[in-house]
Amino acid sequence: MMRLLRQLFWVFLTLGFLFGIILLFSYDIIKIEWVSFMEIQPAYQPMEDPLPPPEGSIPIEGAIAIPGMGAPENPVETDESSLTRGAELYIINCRMCHGPTGGGNGPIAPFLANKPANLTSEVVQSKSDGSFFLTISNGITGRMPPLNENLTVPERWDVVNFIRTCFEPQENPREECR
Ligand code: HEC
Repeated sequence: MMRLLRQLFWVFLTLGFLFGIILLFSYDIIKIEWVSFMEIQPAYQPMEDPLPPPEGSIPIEGAIAIPGMGAPENPVETDESSLTRGAELYIINCRMCHGPTGGGNGPIAPFLANKPANLTSEVVQSKSDGSFFLTISNGITGRMPPLNENLTVPERWDVVNFIRTCFEPQENPREECR
């Protein structure tokens, strides 16, 4: 009888001991760093090529411009709200180079090797809205940065409307242009 009790005592002591050790791990009192590297994971790396759109997907805004099909048509009407947005976006994204009145004399223009275009000039104003849009979207290599990540598609058209409407010298400038 005594022997059985003693054996049971040892069995429970051993079990309790093992249980205690397991608790130490499960509460992270003892931590083991398993070999793991951040780069070994299925995540998509920032330097990899952009993922192609999933098969069969359709862009909800339609194609912005189809390469080789020329400049797109301006779908945004030149109304008061478009001009107001365009004026604000111009101040944020363009004015530092092209200047407050579009003359190409913004505050950082003196530091640029290639001077920003005078947006009021005949040469620039004779270009189409779509040509402005493409310039804003793609930039001009080595001269003007592409701004497609700063401005959404409708925002780019607002800026186009603004430079078209407000940078032509005019006798009675619209309210939004002043
Ligand atoms: C970093 C300075 C910089 C910024 C910012 C910038 N531009 Fe330009 N932009 C230039 C330069 C430089 C040229 C090229 C002038 C040249 O050599 O013909 C240019 C040219 C242009 C032209 C003339 C393109 C042509 O076909 O002749 C348009 C239109 C224009 N920019 C619009 C914009 C608009 C709109 C924005 C803001 C959304 C903007 N730019 C922001 C520097 C800038």
